Amino acid sequence: MIMQNFSDIANRLKDNGYSLVGTGTKRAAYVSPCKKHVIKVPIDPIGIMENFHEHMRYKKGDRSKLAKCMLTPNSLIIMEYIQIVPNYLLPEWCEEFDNQVGLNKKGVLVAYDYGC
Ligand SMILES: Nc1ncnc2c1ncn2[C@@H]1O[C@H](COP(=O)(O)OP(=O)(O)OP(=O)(O)O)[C@@H](O)[C@H]1O
Ligand SMILES: [Mg+2]
Repeated sequence: MIMQNFSDIANRLKDNGYSLVGTGTKRAAYVSPCKKHVIKVPIDPIGIMENFHEHMRYKKGDRSKLAKCMLTPNSLIIMEYIQIVPNYLLPEWCEEFDNQVGLNKKGVLVAYDYGC
């Protein structure tokens, strides 16, 4: 039932001009029409925990390497849109995030998947 709610949310996002920008194993990311943020929708129950952990890490961690995010009351992550860059250009610290990094709108390299 809960997963059905998330699939309804994904459909509502698409109806409102969001488009799917990428899918992982636990979450799908939809980019806003203005391309400034993505909304991460869980695609399995672990994705719900992942959203929670991502936000916890942002609140408690070293934010300089993390894309800015917030958690909504219904367990969605809203995160700044990150432009993904080719792996061969990446510094070593990115390995900690499995090279799931890119540039934010200020041109700073940050991780966009740090839920685990
Ligand atoms: N902030 C962002 N800006 C742009 N694209 C993003 C952003 N966050 C996620 N994406 C895209 O959405 C995809 C899925 O997001 P994410 O990697 O966070 O999901 P996941 O299920 O946790 O992934 P994994 O299977 O790696 O654990 C990413 O591979 C990427 O293409
Ligand atoms: Mg990922």
